[in-house]
Amino acid sequence: MAKRTLQLHVNTVPVTLDLAPSTLLIDLLREPLQLRGTHQGCDTAQCGACTVLVDGAAVKSCNRLALQCAGRSVTTIEGLAPADGPLHVMQALFRKHHALQCGYCTPGFVLRAVAMVQEDVPAEPDAVRQALSGNLCRCTGYEGIVQAVVEGLALLRNPAHAGAGAP
Ligand code: FES
Ligand code: FES
Repeated sequence: MAKRTLQLHVNTVPVTLDLAPSTLLIDLLREPLQLRGTHQGCDTAQCGACTVLVDGAAVKSCNRLALQCAGRSVTTIEGLAPADGPLHVMQALFRKHHALQCGYCTPGFVLRAVAMVQEDVPAEPDAVRQALSGNLCRCTGYEGIVQAVVEGLALLRNPAHAGAGAP
């Protein structure tokens, strides 16, 4: 199959490359771009480990063709905070609330949570659990994750903290 040229931004860096039209976004990120923080946990678009942001919205990258992201801005976990700088607020709160164990699911949860800041999701446990229903964790039991996201939504919607690093 003839390759197509794709142009997009990944973690604010302009990217242009030729790829097969059937290339999934997750494979673009993990292989040519070597952004291995985007994890594959299933083949059925259920686990959310592959979640990234596309123009700020949470997307399961195993369920999206790379070419569907032409002209878009993709953010992976590597782009959420500077490599040598403070953690993003949501990352810091996951650490504070012990919201990870093996960490395999964590990039997907963090990016899903960051997208929720712009959504109409109340900073309340039941609403957060519902909004996180597309992400699965086999280790933590979810309590710490929910606590981290509830606190993160409240903090990040406070203009005094918007765009800030670790709390
Ligand atoms: S790898 Fe994408 S949802 Fe599981
Ligand atoms: S921390 Fe291990 S799967 Fe979530």
